Amino acid sequence: MAILCTNTKAVVPPLAGAMGGEVSQVDDLAAAERLLASDPLETLVVIGSDVDLAEALEFTAAQRLARPVLGVVLLRERLEVAVLALAIRAGVREVVPESDLDLVAQSCLRSRDLSRVTPVGVTIPAQQSTEGKVAVVFATKGGCGKTTTATNLAVTLHAGGANRVCLVDLDLAFGDVAISLQLTPLRTLVDAMAMDGQLDETGVSGLLTRYRPGLDCVLAPVEPGDSEQIPASLITDVLRLLRRMFDYVVIDTPPQFNEHVLAVLDEADHHVLLTTPDVPTLKNLRLTIDMLDMLSYPRDRRVIVLNREDSRVGLTVSDVESVVKTSVAVRVPASLAVPASINRGVPITVERPDHPVSAGFREIATRILAGAKHEPAAARRGLFGLRRRSG
Ligand SMILES: Nc1ncnc2c1ncn2[C@@H]1O[C@H](COP(=O)(O)OP(=O)(O)OP(=O)(O)O)[C@@H](O)[C@H]1O
Ligand SMILES: [Mg+2]
Repeated sequence: MAILCTNTKAVVPPLAGAMGGEVSQVDDLAAAERLLASDPLETLVVIGSDVDLAEALEFTAAQRLARPVLGVVLLRERLEVAVLALAIRAGVREVVPESDLDLVAQSCLRSRDLSRVTPVGVTIPAQQSTEGKVAVVFATKGGCGKTTTATNLAVTLHAGGANRVCLVDLDLAFGDVAISLQLTPLRTLVDAMAMDGQLDETGVSGLLTRYRPGLDCVLAPVEPGDSEQIPASLITDVLRLLRRMFDYVVIDTPPQFNEHVLAVLDEADHHVLLTTPDVPTLKNLRLTIDMLDMLSYPRDRRVIVLNREDSRVGLTVSDVESVVKTSVAVRVPASLAVPASINRGVPITVERPDHPVSAGFREIATRILAGAKHEPAAARRGLFGLRRRSG
């Protein structure tokens, strides 16, 4: 069963056909709400183009919190970027032109698929504040698992659609997010440059590549060299807009401090710092922590993650803690299931939620959910000649 809300009788038969299965038609959203109340298993509402946009978005925003398993597909006469931006904020799964019945059918299928994997009683609470939280995943040593952690963290925080999440690939020269999630980078951060100084939510919506409804990505540029031209102030502007549009923004980073990384560390509520249990990487984490201290970033923003923990390599958690002089918050075991999932282009938390590695990534998400939001950072002194901006 699914609900079709429209008062235009002529469109009911073709739309009901595209939606598939049994469809109950209602004239308005109040009637849709009554029907939903009587059927707790209902998972799909399609809202026709004749329904007022503001009412449709208000209905969706309320359902997103009360009933995350429910998918709302919004039909409009034609697609407009401004409507897409508002729809993303409200939690609409897809916006589709009403006349394109094939697209309507595909959207309904995708929404039903998503509902099937969404736990009815989600354990991850939806973010209530108007500004989303920002988490940066960082390590100065390459190959520690930043991209793996960032993608899995984003998917976990998304919680099957309960939260709107944006994953940003700030590894601008060698970004792997697109390939890890099998996305085609048609739009990237470079496209923001044309809007520098006049960027707004509509402009930022145009940078997004959708992974699944409610989980969008800002991908890294594909051309080498493009990244150097992006000013750090533009990254800050993009991030400030994204946190207004999403509940959580997760940022993957390159393995070095640079002006872009410092800009996002300034804005972030959480610094997820990775290490692996080998001496060179531990040394780098120690230096990273010293540097973050020098830059006066509050320590309570840090979540130290020991990735690829493996009892066979000889370094224990307490060895790690004594080298980095900080306690390890989360341990993620080493497993061949991780590269296998990356090679298939499906995050391990999606593919194998019961795996111990997935439990580790969920633990990071829990820390982010439980952690406080922070005021923007104050201006800090220069480091390595990098220009710092005030928050
Ligand atoms: N817990 C784990 N167990 C086993 N392998 C892992 C684990 N985490 C990451 N890996 C593997 O380590 C490799 C590097 O991971 P990833 O690309 O996420 O690192 P990165 O820090 O983003 O690297 P770069 O600095 O190059 O961007 C990948 O092959 C990945 O499969
Ligand atoms: Mg990476």
